[in-house]
Amino acid sequence: MKNVGWLVAASLALASCGEMGSGIGSDDLLNAGDDTSNWITHGRTYSEQRYSPLDLINEDNVSELGLAWYADMDTARGQEATPLVIDGKLYLTTAWSKVKAFDAATGAPLWEFDPEVPGETAVKACCDVVNRGLAAWGDKLYFGTLDGRLIALDRETGKVAWEKVTVDQSQSYTITGAPRIIDGKVLIGNGGAEFGVRGYIAAYDAKNGEELWRFYTVPDEPSEDDPEYLKAAAETWSGEWWEMGGGGTVWDSMAYDPDLNLLYIGVGNGSPWNRAYRSPGEDGTGDGDNLYLSSIVAIRPDTGEYVWHYQTTPGETWDYTATQHIMLADMEIDGAERQVLMQAPKNGFFYVLDRATGEFISAEPYIPQSWALGIDENGRPIENPEARTEKTGQPAMVMPGPLGGHNWHPMAYNPDENLVYIPAFEAAAIYAPEEGWKPDPNRGFNVGYNLGAGDLPPDLEIRKQVYGTVRGKLLAWDPVAQEARWEIEHPGPWNGGLLATGGGLVFQGNSSSEFNAYNASSGEKLWSFPAQTGVVAPPVTYSINGEQYVAVLAGWGGAYAITADGGLVKDAKPVQNISRLLVFKLGADGELPPIPELAALPLDPPPSRASADTIALGAQKYARYCAVCHAPAAVGSTVLPDLRRSGTLQNRDSWQAVVHDGILSANGMVSFEGSLSREEIDAIREYVIKRANEDRDAGIS
Ligand code: HEC
Repeated sequence: MKNVGWLVAASLALASCGEMGSGIGSDDLLNAGDDTSNWITHGRTYSEQRYSPLDLINEDNVSELGLAWYADMDTARGQEATPLVIDGKLYLTTAWSKVKAFDAATGAPLWEFDPEVPGETAVKACCDVVNRGLAAWGDKLYFGTLDGRLIALDRETGKVAWEKVTVDQSQSYTITGAPRIIDGKVLIGNGGAEFGVRGYIAAYDAKNGEELWRFYTVPDEPSEDDPEYLKAAAETWSGEWWEMGGGGTVWDSMAYDPDLNLLYIGVGNGSPWNRAYRSPGEDGTGDGDNLYLSSIVAIRPDTGEYVWHYQTTPGETWDYTATQHIMLADMEIDGAERQVLMQAPKNGFFYVLDRATGEFISAEPYIPQSWALGIDENGRPIENPEARTEKTGQPAMVMPGPLGGHNWHPMAYNPDENLVYIPAFEAAAIYAPEEGWKPDPNRGFNVGYNLGAGDLPPDLEIRKQVYGTVRGKLLAWDPVAQEARWEIEHPGPWNGGLLATGGGLVFQGNSSSEFNAYNASSGEKLWSFPAQTGVVAPPVTYSINGEQYVAVLAGWGGAYAITADGGLVKDAKPVQNISRLLVFKLGADGELPPIPELAALPLDPPPSRASADTIALGAQKYARYCAVCHAPAAVGSTVLPDLRRSGTLQNRDSWQAVVHDGILSANGMVSFEGSLSREEIDAIREYVIKRANEDRDAGIS
């Protein structure tokens, strides 16, 4: 650290952490807001505002921004990481939990580290083999791996200092989120609530990886020894929920208030999603709030002790996680200065809470939504009964769908404008309870809904119309008035995370392969760079020798890209994955290599001759076991193989070799032998052949 706090920080770190030595300490993290050279923690500060006071790049000169350097990544999968910048060096994670270090001014590569996550792990991940970043402490960097390890690397050399398995690897736990560090404790949660796990967050000693405490978010089978907060939670569940894990994973957001000494965590959805199967109640149609699903929970970072919670979606049944970005700020509301916590969780409402007590202050919808009529004065939603399809037994189109109105993509805050910038989107879904559903502990998306219910007919016009209703929005949200001051519409959802700067700018990449700068107070687009690929990760900014840089990791992927991207049905060209770090500064004129032609394989399936029954069986199994990676109705994305175009459709044996025998498992395509019979695997092939014929006949090439 080059700032003045360095000496103080080093001595504090020495005093509090024994042999920790120099490097990043508590003082640096507490003062990260003033340190404009660096970006030392995920959300830039413990308040997670993603606001840098840097104003060397500003409204007047942003048009002169150009490409300073770029670096190609060796993983053509979703890129979601926030880089860290420390003393002129830039560190990032990429897909498959790999880590890379660069000279932040020149782009010279310094070192890289591959934790060698086994390819088979991919089937445990709901949403691509992504990783969202690192944490720094002392002279080390910390990150989680898809297979559930927490690893400490020497920051100078990239060599492993220690590694620790943080999950039961026999279950479908994954880590994609970035750790945070408070006073030498590394905090990390995990994901897996589509696959029957029980969520928790834990703290590990930065020195050696020793587990210091673990906080479970949902109760296990009740026992006398349970802590009070879990005893209270158990009252809100029914049946034998622990058999299916319960869910409530802490897979992304955290924030910390050092004055209140509170750590805030965002808790995920239920496992399975359908509450009737998770917590059936007396009549089997679902009952109970199911604490602490979909909640924001405040805990003591030193002990993991529960302090308060606020549940955004009681009795969640729509995959409405509250793991979205948690941001802290102070502002005047109704004449009083309030210490608030803000979140735009998946459920479509923007929440403002008192972060000392958890008291509900306000909530209003930030996108159109249909599951609730509003939020009452106690902060409890007034539900639309038709959206509770697990109770009605009738399928219903609900807005938002499981991708939410906002997903993991970070927001940013501008304190001068008192605006929160939200990367929001509108994408409804049909929730059709699956009758007679049983969990499959081996494979597949275990949610209790028929994931094929929303599949669109092959008619191209209908598909275009439906995709026309799916859109993205950049919202400049006034958290006091609870309304958008301005908004920008993007043609597609799943746009990039945000950065706000003292130069009056907001930076965002998007699913139309652009990286843009907007005026923070008006939304006027001031600058745009053709990124050649969808940008979903959030940018960061830093300065070296009096020059300001903006860096963003580009690379299309993640949940929407692999599960729902309309692929070729859109008018726009399909978005490709070109995974690359892009770094900009004023006056630079770097150029990217020419964009490669997207080589789509021909749509040339064998004739469809199977019986309607076989195709129906294949459709049902496809929806449960394949759609999550190869997209609904087999309308593939550009990130993973489009099965309609696969050569294996021509040959039953090679299809069986992939799907039954798992010959591609090292690349993430595992065997489904334990879950599907050879006949069922054949039926899936027949279904895909049918779909490929339909689409070719509909005019898709
Ligand atoms: C966890 C994600 C995931 C799931 C779930 C999944 N696949 Fe795959 N699949 C992949 C990946 C990744 C590849 C590419 C592997 C490679 O590059 O070698 C692939 C490749 C394939 C291929 C070879 C395509 C080609 O021509 O190269 C077939 C066939 C296939 N999958 C069928 C299926 C079927 C059928 C299911 C459901 C039973 C399924 N997959 C479920 C990730 C997945």
